[in-house]
Amino acid sequence: MLSGRFIILGVTGGIAAYKAAELASALTRAGALVDVVMTKAAQEFVQPLTFATLTGRPVHTELFGSSTGGIIPHIELATRAELIVVAPATANTLAKLAHGHADDLLSSLVLAATCPVLLCPAMNAYMYAHPAVQSNLKRLSEMGYHIVEPDSGRLACGVEGRGRMPDPGVIMEHIKTLFLSPGDLRGVKVLVTAGGTREPIDPVRYISNRSSGKMGYALAAAAGMRGAQVTLISAPTSLDPPPGVEVVFVETARQMYQAVMEHFSTQDVVIKAAAVADYRPKIIEGKKIKKREDTLILELERNPDILFELGQRKTPYQTLVGFAAETDDIEANALEKLRRKNLDLLVANDVTQPGAGFGTDTNIVKLFYRDGRIKSLPLMDKKALAHRILDVVVELRSRVDG
Ligand code: CTP
Repeated sequence: MLSGRFIILGVTGGIAAYKAAELASALTRAGALVDVVMTKAAQEFVQPLTFATLTGRPVHTELFGSSTGGIIPHIELATRAELIVVAPATANTLAKLAHGHADDLLSSLVLAATCPVLLCPAMNAYMYAHPAVQSNLKRLSEMGYHIVEPDSGRLACGVEGRGRMPDPGVIMEHIKTLFLSPGDLRGVKVLVTAGGTREPIDPVRYISNRSSGKMGYALAAAAGMRGAQVTLISAPTSLDPPPGVEVVFVETARQMYQAVMEHFSTQDVVIKAAAVADYRPKIIEGKKIKKREDTLILELERNPDILFELGQRKTPYQTLVGFAAETDDIEANALEKLRRKNLDLLVANDVTQPGAGFGTDTNIVKLFYRDGRIKSLPLMDKKALAHRILDVVVELRSRVDG
């Protein structure tokens, strides 16, 4: 996929610049032609010679000069680039890009480029959390830049928090998804459900689950990027809906059932990433329950199984994808669920594994196909995983169409 592609790797002045060397090496091994552009501060951390040796290609540092052999290096590089990756992207570089400054080679060339740009912010956790940085990132995202969120953990400066540049393997996954055909879901109607439903007990309390909604929101965003017309039916989450997606907010399983059924007949693909409560309190108290006895018994009744119902109603032209969060006997449970709910694909995760399941940015899943195939995917970022799931959806749909 990356063979022969011309990629510019912009390296700016943060300690994570040493990880950019590993990224340059991985890209080169994958067959990409990697020209590195370094800011002045980046050269305080790593020598240009390191990158030149790893890539076997020129390293550019000057806005004026003839490093490209052309008269205007930033225009020449911007015209040829198929992708620009800025890793690490410091707070200063993000601020410059968010406001259109062009005072060095990297900022000028990003301004002049028409190819996709992937930014990998990395900095001290307090800097990353600062409203100025967050508002610049929001602005950059709205302008169409792709952003890889930094990891949490112990940072080089000794502070604990979010700000660490993800491993080069994770950034490589993002790069690969950007090279996928962006239009392979053009004209396809995709409905995604996300989040954990809330089942009220009384006016102030409810029963819910640990779902963050991140997987469903990533799927909605990825489908939109690939040209689909996306409807996202979302139970409560703390996430911002992806741009260009129609969002229907619901709270309970029954509201989600209602909204999904209203949309279902016009959809080509339905992906049920939501964690739907199987039971709800039988009686919702009109007034707040007061504490009186030592024990309190809540009687619960079954909620409709939305996915099961969709499996009954679906036509051969509709693709139905379900999720399963399992804690034991993952394969047997997943296959049983796939058949019982009449699904085309089941995405099963073992929520007991570190890095998998609720609330995390990553997941480890197995894909179970209707035809019996099973594909195990490694630990990956939910945004990258969303694209891998959609790759399978595209493959399944090409069989229906063909
Ligand atoms: N699901 C649904 N409606 C429900 C419960 C679940 O649509 N009332 C969907 C979820 O969105 C998910 C899939 O069913 O795509 C699997 O949910 P899960 O809770 O793992 O499975 P269950 O069918 O509830 O089976 P079990 O109780 O054995 O875990």
